Amino acid sequence: MKPAAMAGPIKLGDLTVNRLGFGAMRVTGPDIWGDPPDRVAAREVLVRAFELGHTLIDTADSYGPYVSETLIAEALYPYPRELVIATKGGLVRPGPKRWDECGLPEHLRQAVDGSLRRLKVERIDLYQLHAPDPYVAFAESMSTLAELQRAGKIRHLGVSNVTVKQLNEARTIAPIVSVQNRYNLEDQADEDVLLACEEAGIAYIPWYPLGAGKALQSEKVKRIAARLGATPAQVALAWLLARSPVMLPIPGTGSITHAEENAGAASIRLLEVDLVELS
Ligand SMILES: NC(=O)c1ccc[n+]([C@@H]2O[C@H](COP(=O)([O-])OP(=O)(O)OC[C@H]3O[C@@H](n4cnc5c(N)ncnc54)[C@H](OP(=O)(O)O)[C@@H]3O)[C@@H](O)[C@H]2O)c1
Repeated sequence: MKPAAMAGPIKLGDLTVNRLGFGAMRVTGPDIWGDPPDRVAAREVLVRAFELGHTLIDTADSYGPYVSETLIAEALYPYPRELVIATKGGLVRPGPKRWDECGLPEHLRQAVDGSLRRLKVERIDLYQLHAPDPYVAFAESMSTLAELQRAGKIRHLGVSNVTVKQLNEARTIAPIVSVQNRYNLEDQADEDVLLACEEAGIAYIPWYPLGAGKALQSEKVKRIAARLGATPAQVALAWLLARSPVMLPIPGTGSITHAEENAGAASIRLLEVDLVELS
């Protein structure tokens, strides 16, 4: 069995993926801006991620912008049948440090068409609103995506960076199969949304699953990793996998070595004593 498949399956609507995915934000240039220093190496990371059993690859039009989606198509198109590519729209990048919300209907329509073109697909498997726009009614953004779903451009819809109230509102507009919010060992402030996902049977995709590297500095994590003969990253991911059956982590890396290490987390079984110590 491929390493990431050891996490077991999870459903995204009618699609099934392994419960440990791959975040493709880190295959771009520094600050998630522009091309990576070595495009060939970035494509190799993406190919290796699929080989390791990550059947969900998460990206967004804003990564680069456009660089991550383009590299995914270059590396993996024509796509293997079992590969699900999830992308996001609703953020624009006027510069390297800027991530501005834009949930206007016209922007979202153009964003979906752009992602379809770059990913070379006729329908996007999972399209997530990257973040609610404070200046546009959330229902207006979600209704636009629901309309694009009815038009056949989107298979399943997800949301990101939402509250429980926004999740509930989205679910009155269209079926929602996933929520992508920040959650990791060092930051569990989003517990209420995780619980709402559990109750609704919706996949919860924690971004920053490694706390962007921060969770790996914890002495507790290092101690448990040493005891298990694992690495801190593997312990941080194994903890997420054990935390909830709807948890679908998407660790991100631009390194094949780290990708291999992270996929190995699916085989780590934490003991009750470890879980108590970590929580
Ligand atoms: N929806 C949202 O608003 C949102 C926001 C942020 C991210 N995301 C998504 O979530 C995914 C994951 O988030 P993330 O990539 O920002 O954070 P992350 O997975 O928590 O951490 C990634 C960072 O940790 C390092 N790293 C990865 N594996 C490691 C290992 N085994 N040992 C040591 N360091 C390691 C990476 O550096 P190297 O490249 O050197 O390995 C990178 O700097 C992204 O790729 C993206 O798809 C979504």
